[in-house]
Amino acid sequence: MLNNDIPDKNLDESHLKCSFGTLELELEVPAGVWNPTPNGILLGETLEQMDFSNEKVLELGTGCGIHAVILGLRGASELVLTEVDGSILGHAERNLQKYGITCPVEFLIADWIQVNQNGFDTVVANPPFALSNKTYRRYFIDTLILESHKLLKPGGRLIFIHSTMGDVPRTIRLLEECGLSVRIIADKDFPFRDYYFEDEVYLKEMAAVPGSYTVRDGVRYERLVAFEARMPQ
Ligand SMILES: C[S@@+](CC[C@H](N)C(=O)[O-])C[C@H]1O[C@@H](n2cnc3c(N)ncnc32)[C@H](O)[C@@H]1O
Repeated sequence: MLNNDIPDKNLDESHLKCSFGTLELELEVPAGVWNPTPNGILLGETLEQMDFSNEKVLELGTGCGIHAVILGLRGASELVLTEVDGSILGHAERNLQKYGITCPVEFLIADWIQVNQNGFDTVVANPPFALSNKTYRRYFIDTLILESHKLLKPGGRLIFIHSTMGDVPRTIRLLEECGLSVRIIADKDFPFRDYYFEDEVYLKEMAAVPGSYTVRDGVRYERLVAFEARMPQ
């Protein structure tokens, strides 16, 4: 059950209180750091129910570190966390310290999948999409899938989330074309955020994706879908 207080805007300062199963988290999200949206919260709820014991985990675009905290509390033995900007990583580090994450953590400034490391048991990401600032909006999703073989060890898994507006069948097809086996590990409907209506190009793109949203009682809903995709052994 999603009962978390999700901020309306994405880069304003906030104090985020959220509960994931038995975990109650209170995170500082300073101005300029991505405020977890329903995507981040649903991914957090999903990760909280999983086991990362003894795993070396990479999180791309960690933001305030919400998922990194959960990964650490759920047994990860080593974390590599990336962001575009060192100050964002500093804030994530403070949130990890607050929750006593003691496994080795590397904070890395990296441009998405360009981390120059490999052999990860798990890669986690909530890829930029609606606000990806890319003409090809799926850029972060597709590069994640196409390059995952460079990051993961054989049998390793990729866990990520995106909206039906990002074309779920296309993601499943690309994962399978790349030889990964796919499971849907969570899905949930959410009403559109206000800023979707401010982007005409985005509205046109989503209209071109069959089943990208539903309308109930005049309200548009997207469905958020979390994937677990495993590399062959
Ligand atoms: C959708 S937000 C997710 C943040 C956080 N994981 C969460 O779920 O709340 C995407 C994150 O990716 C970061 N990001 C954007 N472009 C990036 C890039 N080229 N390389 C690494 N991170 C990037 C953003 O700063 C942002 O924190």
